[in-house]
Amino acid sequence: MAKEDEKKESGEWKEFFWNPRTHELLGRTASSWGLILLFYLVFYTFLAGMFCLTMYVMLLTLDDYKPTWQDRLAVPGMMIRPKGEALEIMYKIDETESWDSYIQALDNFLAPYNNSQQAMTNDDCPPDKYFIQEDSGEVRNNPKRSCQFNRTILEECSGINDRTYGYRDGKPCVLIKLNRVTSQSQHRSLQAPFVTCGAKKEDSDSIGEIAYFPPSGSFNLMYYPYYGKRAQVNYSQPLVAVKFTNITFNMDVNVECKINRLFSEDATAVNERDKFSGRVSFKLRINKM
Ligand SMILES: *[C@@H]1O[C@H](CO)[C@@H](O)[C@H](O)[C@H]1NC(C)=O
Ligand SMILES: *[C@@H]1O[C@H](CO)[C@@H](O)[C@H](O)[C@H]1NC(C)=O
Ligand SMILES: *[C@@H]1O[C@H](CO)[C@@H](O)[C@H](O)[C@H]1NC(C)=O
Ligand SMILES: *[C@@H]1O[C@H](CO)[C@@H](O)[C@H](O)[C@H]1NC(C)=O
Repeated sequence: MAKEDEKKESGEWKEFFWNPRTHELLGRTASSWGLILLFYLVFYTFLAGMFCLTMYVMLLTLDDYKPTWQDRLAVPGMMIRPKGEALEIMYKIDETESWDSYIQALDNFLAPYNNSQQAMTNDDCPPDKYFIQEDSGEVRNNPKRSCQFNRTILEECSGINDRTYGYRDGKPCVLIKLNRVTSQSQHRSLQAPFVTCGAKKEDSDSIGEIAYFPPSGSFNLMYYPYYGKRAQVNYSQPLVAVKFTNITFNMDVNVECKINRLFSEDATAVNERDKFSGRVSFKLRINKM
């Protein structure tokens, strides 16, 4: 009995899949399937069209010259060079190949800062004041000049006299840069922001002396305001070099650098969320036999 039922059932299934009498496939005729396919074709074409239209309208509202959402970031982020994996600089003084990649990275990064290069592309600006250029009406978004940041400003960390940036002597240089943030307002503090570095608590005995280049550790006001990548094509981000001249060898030293004295308009906006954006932490470990 059970066997006959099974047979019948499988016959029903076969018929459902393809019914030779009504010419139905899975319970639908060819024209019914055709209509369904047509429906989905039209439906997805419509969706794709909507998507393209929305993207198009959005792109129209974007300004190539100024990132639309950047004003949410009140305090600029900071970064270091050379940037090892996970912000670590670790090497053995006696093994040249363990620090060679740091030297290469610094050489490449600083090549555009060569004095000759700077003299060719940028202006010799008066220091300690904003380099403000008209950016409205006719000249809005016109190309703008940028100020020279000569490699020689970095002195011992410029790689000119000491081609190893102190790495060979166990006194490594680390370059600090701020992320590029364009500014809307041009009326701000008249004091330049500066960098200070220190050790995380437990490492304060091992970090030793720190030298800054330029000695003020500051980003000169003449490099601001920044009008954006499209307008200031030759812009060279200002740098501060930090040299660890008496760091303890053979142990991890956790360093934190932070930016002080923010542009005044920004300072009021510093809140809990932004507290960590004006600083960068990294680990130094220099091994010596
Ligand atoms: C920049 O200067 C360094 C050292 O003076 C030199 O080795 C290098 O070739 C220069 N790079 C460019 C791009 O001029
Ligand atoms: C940068 O170096 C060039 C060439 O040595 C020099 O003419 C210029 O005055 C320097 N600029 C600054 C801002 O020091
Ligand atoms: C950028 O530098 C090039 C030379 O490399 C110069 O011809 C051009 O005028 C500069 N552009 C601006 C906007 O300063
Ligand atoms: C370097 O640091 C050690 C302690 O870690 C200290 O005894 C020594 O005086 C320092 N040397 C200089 C030149 O500051």
